[in-house]
Formats: sequence, C-alpha cells, structure tokens
Amino acid sequence: QTGLTTLDVGFVNTAATRSAITYIDGDKGILRYRGYNIADVAEHSSFLETAWLLIYGELPTAEELEAFDKRVRRHTLIHEDLRRIFDALPHDAHPMSVLSSAVSALSTYYEKSRGVNDPDEIELSTIRLLSKLPVIAAYAHKKSLGHAFLYPDNSLSFVDNFLRLNFGTMAEPYVVNPVVSKALERLLILHADHEQNASTSTVRLVGSTESNIFSSISAGINALYGPLHGGANEAVLEMLQEIKDSGEGVEKFVERVKNKEPGVRLMGFGHRVYKSFDPRAQLVKESADEVLEALGVQDDLLDIAKELEAVALADEYFISRKLYPNVDFYTGVIYKAMGFPPRMFTVLFAIGRLPGWIAHWREMNDDPATRIGRPQQLYTGSPAREWPEGRPEG
Ligand code: SDX
Repeated sequence: QTGLTTLDVGFVNTAATRSAITYIDGDKGILRYRGYNIADVAEHSSFLETAWLLIYGELPTAEELEAFDKRVRRHTLIHEDLRRIFDALPHDAHPMSVLSSAVSALSTYYEKSRGVNDPDEIELSTIRLLSKLPVIAAYAHKKSLGHAFLYPDNSLSFVDNFLRLNFGTMAEPYVVNPVVSKALERLLILHADHEQNASTSTVRLVGSTESNIFSSISAGINALYGPLHGGANEAVLEMLQEIKDSGEGVEKFVERVKNKEPGVRLMGFGHRVYKSFDPRAQLVKESADEVLEALGVQDDLLDIAKELEAVALADEYFISRKLYPNVDFYTGVIYKAMGFPPRMFTVLFAIGRLPGWIAHWREMNDDPATRIGRPQQLYTGSPAREWPEGRPEG
C-alpha cells in the first residue's frame, strides 16, 4: 500500500490499538487513568487502589479495596523451589534479568493458569502477580547483596512489605520510614500505566497469541529493561554521575549531546508522545526535593539534574526537537536516596507498571475482537530474481 505513515504501519488488524484504560495528550501534557487526572490519582490514591482502578475500570468501594488488599497480602509467599532459582543465577546478575526469568518460571507453578478463558484463573493470576512480583524483585536485590532472603510480613502494607524485604535483615526488626513509604507509593502510582508504550504493547502482542499472562508479563519486563525505555532511569543516574566525575560541567556535556557524540544522549529527556512536557516528570521533581529534604540527604546529582534541565530547556536544539524531561529524569535520585542501588531502579518501574500490564492483558484477552497481533511491514528488499545458473550447491 502506498501512503502508509509510520503511524498506520501498526498491527495489521488495526492502525491503532483501542483501549479504555489510559489517555495521553502529548501536546497538552495530559495523562489520565480511567479518566482521572494523574495528579489527582497520585495525590489521593494508594497503589493498590490505583491497580484496582486500572484493572477493573472504577474506583473500588472501601470493602472492595480492603478485600483486594487482604487477598494480595495472602499470596506473597513464593514456592520454596522457586526461591532456589536465585541460586542458579550469578550474584551480579542484573535484577531485571532475574525478574523476567523468575516471572516466567512462576507460570510453571500454575499450569492451570495457562488457560486464557477461565475468569477465576485470570483473577488468581492477577493477585499472584501483584503479590509475588515485589517479593521476587526484593529477592533479586538481596541476591545481589549476598544477604539472606526474608519472608513477607502480611501485617504490613504492600509498599511497607516491599521495603522491609529489601532493607530488613534477619538480625533486627525493620522500621519503615514513613517518608520513604509515602514517596515510593506515589512513584509506583506515577508508573502504573502509560497507554501503548513499548513494554505494554509487548504484553498485548504476546497475550494476543493466547500465551498465558505470566509469559506475557515476563516479555514486558524484558522490553522495559532497554535503556530507551524503563532502563533510562538507571542510565540517567549514570549520566549525572559521569558529568559530576568528569568535572567538565553541564554545558560541556550538553555540547557533546548536540554534537551527537556516539553513545551520548540526554537520558531522561524526550518522549515518543509527550512533545510539551511529561506531567509525571513535574510530579517526580516535586517529590525529589521533598524526599531528599525529609531524609536529610544532600545529593549533588539532583543539583546537576536541575541545572541540566534548565540548560536544555533554554537551548534551541532541545526546544526545536520538543525534548523535555520524561518520567525517568528525576526518579533515580529519589530511589538512590531511599537506598536502592541503580540496578534496581528499572525493577521499581516494573513493579509500578505491573497493574497497567495486567489491565491491558485482560482488556486484550476479554475483547472478542482481538486477533493475533501481526505487525505489518513495508517491504524494501530485492525484487523477484532467478537463482544464479551453475552456482555450486550450498
Ligand atoms: C519511557 O512510550 C512511553 O510511554 C514510555 C514511557 C512509559 O511510561 O512507558 O514514558 C517510559 O520509556 C520514557 C523514555 C525514557 N527514555 C529515555 O529517556 C532515553 C532518552 N530518550 C530518547 O532516546 C528518545 O527521546 C526516546 C526514545 C524517548 C524517544 O525517541 P523518539 O521520539 O524516536 O525521538 P527521536 O529519536 O525521533 O528524536 C528526534 C530527535 C533526533 O534528533 P535529529 O535526528 O532530529 O537531529 O531528537 C533527538 C534525536 O537524536 N533526541 C535526543 C534525545 N531524544 C531524542 N537527543 C538527545 N537526547 C535525547 N534524549
């Protein structure tokens, strides 16, 4: 077909994927979860309430939320054999690789969950993923530290249980820092969904083959891992540290970016959709100041990030290309202040994005109009040609 734009060259069945979950207006910097503005959700909701909203489409009643929270808490244990998967992996394995491997392995414990047509199984898989992903993530962190794994404590909230599994030890009781707990809850909410981004589209594409939800989510984790996508939050911190260590200053770094030096990009800037500003970046930047001050942390990297933003937003190169800070630009500074190592930053993104992936997988799976994804291509290769006469057999 002629005249196809890159937008049209989407899945062969539709020029665009239809969804009722999240709305983005990239020109106006609008992001809504099931119609609610992201700033309101981040301000008033909890992560599990946001998960319910994204998955079921409405805000839960108090009773629904309480029952949901209780179900998630009661599924936090992972099979003892699954804990041993971590022994098979090198201690310095990247936690994102550990996460996708363990989530894929999770499906082997729930063979019945391979069914994509059993609503009860899909419900149970939803709960199992929400409850076990954070536990697996924390174990990946502990594995990298060479620390013993703790068992979940179901008396704690979703976020506090996760924090304790990451930072608690067998040797003493863990006291949750309310500042960290509140800030992490807000960051998870800000990452909970984002329309048809690369990892969510991967989850939908894999799910469209009637592959089970665990395998689809594992594929989404692998897509998120890339530095152009969720891996950017780790890359931003490396970039800020490199600027600090080089002593060359922000302006010099920006010149290197504009000169397009190989491998030099302003990580945490730019977006496929936002061509004005990413509303999440504004909200994360506000949190950065609050969290570091409340924790009594002074980090040069936050100052460098702010200077970098100011210099870039005043530079025609970035303005003309509509490059603004995205959700990944400031998150790493906060995660670092909380005590997470950079290699865990994208894992935190994955935990936040899980409800969105689940919501999209279920929306795709429930839609009778869904057909197997088959991205269209525009052929640019050789025209038909004859096999060369006398060519020796291969
Ligand atoms: C996420 O899709 C989603 O919703 C994703 C996400 C989500 O919630 O799921 O929002 C999460 O992935 C955010 C993005 C995180 N990635 C980064 O921060 C990595 C750095 N950013 C870029 O690599 C880039 O901006 C992308 C990948 C995010 C967007 O790529 P585009 O839209 O394809 O941009 P482009 O490559 O078309 O760039 C247009 C121009 C080019 O310059 P010219 O060729 O016109 O001279 O802008 C330049 C690019 O070189 N450019 C950058 C740049 N991003 C684009 N130049 C320097 N630094 C950058 N970051």
